[in-house]
Amino acid sequence: MRRNIIICFICILAILLSGCSVEKVVLPAQKEVTDKTLKDVFKEHGMKIGTCVSSYVIDKKDTSDLILEQFNSVTMENAMKPDYILNQDKCKAEGKLVVEYNSEALSILKWAKKNNLSMRGHTLIWYSQTPEWIFREGFESNGSFVGREEMLSRMESFISSNFETLKNLGYIDCFYAYDIINEAIMEDGSLRQNHWTETIGDDYLWYAFYFADKYAPQTIDLYYNDYNEQYKAEYLVSIVNTLKDDTGRNLIDGIGLQAHLFTADDLTNYLSAVDTLAETGLKLELTEVDVGLGKYQSPLSATNEHLKEQGRYCYELINGLFERADSRKIKIDAITFWGFSDGFSWRKEYSPQLYDADLDPKYSLYGVLQIKEYSGY
Ligand code: GLA
Repeated sequence: MRRNIIICFICILAILLSGCSVEKVVLPAQKEVTDKTLKDVFKEHGMKIGTCVSSYVIDKKDTSDLILEQFNSVTMENAMKPDYILNQDKCKAEGKLVVEYNSEALSILKWAKKNNLSMRGHTLIWYSQTPEWIFREGFESNGSFVGREEMLSRMESFISSNFETLKNLGYIDCFYAYDIINEAIMEDGSLRQNHWTETIGDDYLWYAFYFADKYAPQTIDLYYNDYNEQYKAEYLVSIVNTLKDDTGRNLIDGIGLQAHLFTADDLTNYLSAVDTLAETGLKLELTEVDVGLGKYQSPLSATNEHLKEQGRYCYELINGLFERADSRKIKIDAITFWGFSDGFSWRKEYSPQLYDADLDPKYSLYGVLQIKEYSGY
């Protein structure tokens, strides 16, 4: 009886374990398949290719080597977000919003400059990862909310101090693009209500670009960045069309498409949203690409079949973008992936990146490199 219970227990355990573990899919190494790196392939289409970075990936030799070999642009995953660059005591002392980079941001800036990487700035005006005290009297955590004029002047000091700081530190020339506003529009086209709308009003968007245009050097393109762009394209067009000065000159240079996609997302719809956004005449950049297996809240496991589907998806997505760039249908300088390895992705449960957790190539890598034979076809 006892023996039967033990055998039964072992069988159940074996069934459970076999359901959880998926055998690793092994593809030939990148160097055996092609002598081109990601940045070689993108250069042929006039583009940079980027990844987001943290001090964790730049401090480790294997990940840092991979980034330097394959990519030529980086975005800080977190270290340049408002939460990380605004120091409450310093703002109280100076009576305005002043920027101070922390040690992670400084070490990434140093590393990027030393290695000749271009940089995207991300991000200044956002509803999330932004300290609430910046909206309050005296920069006190329990102060009441300030009025429109005070908040406009804080926004101006925040934006000017950011570009001034980068200039004084000697890094301003590393930047070619900056996300001035992140995620301001809802799926129904309404403006997201947040502390910026509460204190300033709906025209905070216009002022953000007005100040950025005033203080950023001409060499940095100013971007509006958002997610679910394929469902918001018409609304994004009508918002960016309002971002002009009184002579009709654009205060904005580009639209950032985050491109947090899933293999279940319709690619034809996605590329037609790209075409709609291109009609604004602004530059477009895919800024945070990852292609998750499955769909939102329903990840699929990393089986050979699912990874092949992801590889084909990446092949078609990048192919559609290369075709549009080559025929000048869209103006696009760069495509940035939100990471490069499934091991460090913020959406790791969806296995959304180009290399697996061991930094081995996936079909998705070969899809992006446009090598059809290994892209899962
Ligand atoms: C958004 C932001 C990014 C990042 C991701 C999650 O896409 O723009 O900065 O926070 O969410 O990692």
